[in-house]
Amino acid sequence: MRVNGRTSITRRLTLLFVFASSAVLLALGFVIASSVEKHFEQQDMEVLTGKMELAGYALEKLQSQNDLERMKQQLRNALVGHPGLDVSIFSPNQTVIFATPGASAPINLASVNARRNPHRPFTWTIGESSYRGIAAELSTGIKEQSRVFVAVSLDIAHHQAFLRSFLRTLWLFVAVAAALTGILGWAAARRGLAPLRAMREQAQVVTAQQLSHRLPLESTPVELAELAQSLNDMLARLEKAFHRLSDFSSDIAHELRTPVSNLMTETHVALSRQRSADDYRSILESNAEEFGRMARMISDMLLLAKAENGLGTQAREMVDLAAEVLVLFDYYDAVAEEKGLRLVLEGNGEVSADRLMLRRALGNLLSNGVRHSTANTTLNVAINTNKEMVSVCVKNIGDTIPQEYWKRVFDRFFRVDNSRQRSSEGTGLGLAIAKSIVGAHGGTITAESMIAVTTFTIRLPRGTDASLTPGSL
Ligand SMILES: Nc1ncnc2c1ncn2[C@@H]1O[C@H](COP(=O)(O)OP(=O)(O)OP(=O)(O)O)[C@@H](O)[C@H]1O
Ligand SMILES: [Mg+2]
Repeated sequence: MRVNGRTSITRRLTLLFVFASSAVLLALGFVIASSVEKHFEQQDMEVLTGKMELAGYALEKLQSQNDLERMKQQLRNALVGHPGLDVSIFSPNQTVIFATPGASAPINLASVNARRNPHRPFTWTIGESSYRGIAAELSTGIKEQSRVFVAVSLDIAHHQAFLRSFLRTLWLFVAVAAALTGILGWAAARRGLAPLRAMREQAQVVTAQQLSHRLPLESTPVELAELAQSLNDMLARLEKAFHRLSDFSSDIAHELRTPVSNLMTETHVALSRQRSADDYRSILESNAEEFGRMARMISDMLLLAKAENGLGTQAREMVDLAAEVLVLFDYYDAVAEEKGLRLVLEGNGEVSADRLMLRRALGNLLSNGVRHSTANTTLNVAINTNKEMVSVCVKNIGDTIPQEYWKRVFDRFFRVDNSRQRSSEGTGLGLAIAKSIVGAHGGTITAESMIAVTTFTIRLPRGTDASLTPGSL
């Protein structure tokens, strides 16, 4: 389940299930095992202390060696019916005074415990068998032997055997449970991840021809719905961009087809018979005009692609907008004068921008304004500045743009009156270029046109000197 060194989620979840369930089961097992052991110890202690008390009581009552012999018999009798329970009595110099036949308590251990931990349990092992015992120093009524050590012990082999088999069963259970939870976890993880696989299958359907395909949101679990939504949004953006791109290329083909076929027809006609040098000259002049238009269209398209990618707007500087507009007024002065058009500038403002790109955007608005103005009217440029924004409004009187086209005029190759414009100079790229340049500067451009008054407004963030690139001033 490792793909190129990456672990699969199913594998991770399965391992997590196995580890978690094994850890819980083991902890539970150890708690149970230790409480069972404690319980056994308590049970043993009840028996051991009972017998120790009995021995203590009997020893206290002893007066002579004869009493001692009697007591030994009493003790033997008391231990009948208690298999595994043994008592041993020994003197401080470790001489055994009495010991039941199976008594196994090591004298050294018993005497140490009798002194240090009287009545506290201790364990020892002999061969396969284990024992638990308590020891104490007790007093007797016999003068010559007033203090003795008593050890009471119990064979705990059966307890230990029980614990061993319990732990064996526990390990087996943990192993089986871990394997089972592993299988269940794997199945659950696969089931849980099924929507992801479904999403992958849906995503595989998406191709350049089927960009309209979307991931179904209704059947997607909540956790994945956001991801699916984001993917759908991304698909929508891609689809839009893809359509724009294919529209653009078909537009380019369409726009270039007319001038190229014009050129071809003209050339064929020119070649169809012998002509004078003057005829050839005038044909070449007309062709040069057509080539000029095509060259302009191609450079416009290149500029557009550049502006759309935000290129060419890096060299920012503080641009005096009024000065730029005046330079453009100079440029359009001759055409304006021919039409009797008055060019008027109001206001002033500065903005951090790429001077040449911004001049190009403003120039496109002015060229449109001059071209679409009615003769003997005024073309007005107003610059306004507020705290954050600078706006430039280019207003002219002439052709009205119907409201449904206010947004579309910024589309590439869009012309309000296609047939009329195609024959004239415009290629329909001017406003698209202006919009891309303004967009690359973080601004907006809008169009409004009513009762012959058309206004294009550029709004740009003012920017600060700090935003200038080094060496741009
Ligand atoms: N000031 C205006 N008044 C009326 N119509 C306008 C004005 N400016 C633009 N338009 C309309 O918007 C269309 C798109 O303008 P745009 O500048 O993009 O292209 P163009 O001027 O036709 O060609 P280009 O600018 O590439 O030479 C124009 O064809 C025209 O119909
Ligand atoms: Mg134009």
